Amino acid sequence: MPTLLQTEFSDLPLYARGKVRDLYSIGEYLLFVATDRISAFDHVLGTGIPGKGKVLTQISLFWFDHLKEIVPNHLITANIDEYPSELQPYADELRGRSMLVARAQMFPVECVVRGYLSGSGWKDYQQTGSVCGIALPKGMQESDRLPEPIFTPASKSLGGEHDINISFSDMEERVGHSAADSLRTLSLAIYNKASQHAEKSGLILADTKFEFGRTAKGIVLADEVMTPDSSRFWPREGYKPGGPQPSFDKQYVRDYLESIHWNKQAPAPGLPKDVVRHTQEKYLEAFRLLTGKTLEL
Ligand SMILES: Nc1ncnc2c1ncn2[C@@H]1O[C@H](COP(=O)(O)OP(=O)(O)OP(=O)(O)O)[C@@H](O)[C@H]1O
Ligand SMILES: [Mg+2]
Repeated sequence: MPTLLQTEFSDLPLYARGKVRDLYSIGEYLLFVATDRISAFDHVLGTGIPGKGKVLTQISLFWFDHLKEIVPNHLITANIDEYPSELQPYADELRGRSMLVARAQMFPVECVVRGYLSGSGWKDYQQTGSVCGIALPKGMQESDRLPEPIFTPASKSLGGEHDINISFSDMEERVGHSAADSLRTLSLAIYNKASQHAEKSGLILADTKFEFGRTAKGIVLADEVMTPDSSRFWPREGYKPGGPQPSFDKQYVRDYLESIHWNKQAPAPGLPKDVVRHTQEKYLEAFRLLTGKTLEL
């Protein structure tokens, strides 16, 4: 299958190009297209992963549906037949990897929930005994399950900078007390429901990041939801705290990039064929486990 690195719908007004997604303004809505770009260490890599945008889109759609009783979301439709006529010429490119969404005023915070000690949380804990200011029991090991899931917001980086963890009171200053409170409650409720589903699917949802926005409907869950790009999923079988776990996220790609000693400055390198293939398999496997279905690319 071909790799779609960028869309060029020149007659449609481009709203934004993120590291992975191309967004177009379609009247009051946005066309949200997940390309096959892959980023690591805050850079878009020179090679894409064929079909990755479809996997991310289909996983997000699965979660929007699974969570619809507990949180409204930005989805209008992902059915191409329901798209406005100006999008019909692009139907083949859009199928499976796009959604029409409500344009939201995004909250400038990343809503991170952690159920396990990993990544920057583990680093923080080793240095301070807490994660983002939340004190944890002494003597915890890498990948240990936390006594209860914690909410650790981060500032949303603008222009390719690293996201920085912020305290809850910092978040309150940025978005207001009442919105901060709502986003925390929603994030924890979503994590709890999703991690139960993940467990049944043989996966551990170690941590994840949500983005919310405000629309006429109020606060909605926006962006992508619990994909391997935004979350750490570990296989339940063989889970063993005391070190890193094999995961369905981009760790495999990061390990490759470390092995070639890339200095993490632009231009980012491409990936060899076997790394591309293996990464594609991981994404597809995550989809299969979560949804119980096979995705034909
Ligand atoms: N409903 C929505 N309305 C407006 N913007 C949205 C909506 N849902 C998601 N977004 C924004 O669209 C962008 C998605 O693109 P992508 O995931 O490629 O970006 P990113 O690389 O993660 O982040 P960025 O480019 O913002 O640093 C994000 O900036 C996200 O905040
Ligand atoms: Mg994103």
